[in-house]
Amino acid sequence: MMTYFLLFCLLLSHTEAKSIPHPSPHHFPLDLWPKDSLLPRPCPPLPPDHFWLVHTWPKGFCSNSSVHCPQRNLQDELTIHGWWPVDRKDSTLNNYRRVGPINYLFTGEAGEELYTEMKNNWPNLTSPIEYRYGHIAFWEKEWARHGICSCFEPRLYFGTALALKRNINISQALRANGIKPGIEYLRRRFVTALRRKIPRLSFAMRCGDKNGTKILIEIRVCTNETDAISCSRRLNDNCGSCYIKLVSEIEPF
Ligand SMILES: *[C@@H]1O[C@H](CO)[C@@H](O)[C@H](O)[C@H]1NC(C)=O
Ligand SMILES: *[C@@H]1O[C@H](CO)[C@@H](O)[C@H](O)[C@H]1NC(C)=O
Ligand SMILES: *[C@@H]1O[C@H](CO)[C@@H](O)[C@H](O)[C@H]1NC(C)=O
Ligand SMILES: *[C@@H]1O[C@H](CO)[C@@H](O)[C@H](O)[C@H]1NC(C)=O
Ligand SMILES: *[C@@H]1O[C@H](CO)[C@@H](O)[C@H](O)[C@H]1NC(C)=O
Repeated sequence: MMTYFLLFCLLLSHTEAKSIPHPSPHHFPLDLWPKDSLLPRPCPPLPPDHFWLVHTWPKGFCSNSSVHCPQRNLQDELTIHGWWPVDRKDSTLNNYRRVGPINYLFTGEAGEELYTEMKNNWPNLTSPIEYRYGHIAFWEKEWARHGICSCFEPRLYFGTALALKRNINISQALRANGIKPGIEYLRRRFVTALRRKIPRLSFAMRCGDKNGTKILIEIRVCTNETDAISCSRRLNDNCGSCYIKLVSEIEPF
């Protein structure tokens, strides 16, 4: 599959380098291109080298006083923040140009199924849980900023990220190693829990700081299209090497 995508992306960049707008084989539907698609394509002309699957601990994310989370009963499960393509040097491939809407992905029966799975696993935590547009707006931004640089078409991009989350199943790895919400653990407990499940895993953690207590917000896992992998780790880890807390309640910082 990788070879196929590589080839596809290389073909794409080749045709675009010569500024031939069509009929070029776009890797996502033509209607998602901005109207001014004669301009250079939004992402660098190379396919991603690897990806970061960014998981959020909802109660940690919502402990940030600058964030308003209207949902009650936030789940004690990691959710997805994004699946970010990066280059060989581990820099994220970002697109800053407008792209078309993706709400068509969530129409019809298959679309409704995708919506439900997305809402459960990749919710917009700052949106009311039943506010459909709030979630879709979040996914649309993630798609526009990162997804479009993945060399996947949108449905496959979201489906692949969901499958990775399912396969890697970090929440389960934490539980299986006795890491429970509400308690502070030494960093190496997290490392052991994750490496026991996936020995080759590279990951980074992001924390908030509540007067010295490190509150876990994110666990970022390096992946290819199918698995967690080992990679260079340029993305900053700011949780320190001592205690990290998986909060069981919102603890404002
Ligand atoms: C992804 O990583 C896994 C684990 O290292 C490896 O077995 C697999 O071949 C890789 N897939 C691709 C497409 O590179
Ligand atoms: C999440 O939903 C809220 C409420 O609908 C919205 O204001 C916000 O822009 C959404 N977040 C993103 C990143 O789209
Ligand atoms: C992770 O594993 C647990 C326990 O086996 C399961 O209940 C949960 O649904 C899994 N999560 C995902 C995202 O598949
Ligand atoms: C808290 O939220 C603000 C606003 O979204 C953000 O800029 C900041 O980085 C967040 N803090 C942490 C520690 O993530
Ligand atoms: C922060 O911790 C220090 C030392 O434990 C304590 O004296 C101080 O009152 C704390 N500040 C806040 C705002 O909780």
